[in-house]
Amino acid sequence: MVNNEHPKLLSLNRVVSLVDRYRNRLFGRAPQPSPELWHLSFIECLARVVKPNLYVELGVHRCELFNRIIPYAQQLIGVDIDAQARHFLAKSDKVKFINSTTDEFAAALRAKPMSIDMLFIDADHSKEAVLKDFWNYFPFVSHHGLILMHDTHPKSIEFAQPGRYCCDAYKAVEELSINTDKFEMMTIPVHPGLTLCRKRTAQLSWLDNKY
Ligand SMILES: C[S@@+](CC[C@H](N)C(=O)[O-])C[C@H]1O[C@@H](n2cnc3c(N)ncnc32)[C@H](O)[C@@H]1O
Repeated sequence: MVNNEHPKLLSLNRVVSLVDRYRNRLFGRAPQPSPELWHLSFIECLARVVKPNLYVELGVHRCELFNRIIPYAQQLIGVDIDAQARHFLAKSDKVKFINSTTDEFAAALRAKPMSIDMLFIDADHSKEAVLKDFWNYFPFVSHHGLILMHDTHPKSIEFAQPGRYCCDAYKAVEELSINTDKFEMMTIPVHPGLTLCRKRTAQLSWLDNKY
């Protein structure tokens, strides 16, 4: 005991330290994020570095990722076929929710184009849908803008079956990797997998005369 410590303060300190010691038994463990959701902090970190003017997420679900990007983007658009997703969106003047299919929003962009600096493709994970989203949105991605694709490296073939959450999105990446004149692409091979793509024709953005 510290000599000049008041006895009542001491007992309060003991209570605090006892609660701290037995916290897990008293309240249960703090919920740990699922290891499969590592993309949330990864993409958040990427957005913190890139600071996109416009971030577009195809398939926001419960906005777990989308809301985490808000501090780092000037403007954000979330697209989801499920109207319920709207209710999970954090309140911000910067965000817009589009309740439609990704095909419908791509058609709207053709009528009124926008320049997307960071695009996350995470809606329908079938090979055909991922390829369609990629090429539908590619013209609207800014020069040296980023395209991310989720669930592209399932840990086993079971996860790549139709109806499982990765589906065969990885096959879209296999196909896209054949000709990478217009972009570069790499996949982080940790389940469920994340593919990073940069739209480019030259390595240095400021020497890229193709645009
Ligand atoms: C895997 S969840 C998205 C998770 C979210 N990106 C995240 O990281 O937190 C997929 C979402 O895509 C939506 N979706 C599936 N197919 C779609 C389509 N064709 N057009 C728009 N949204 C679609 C589903 O409703 C679902 O909410």
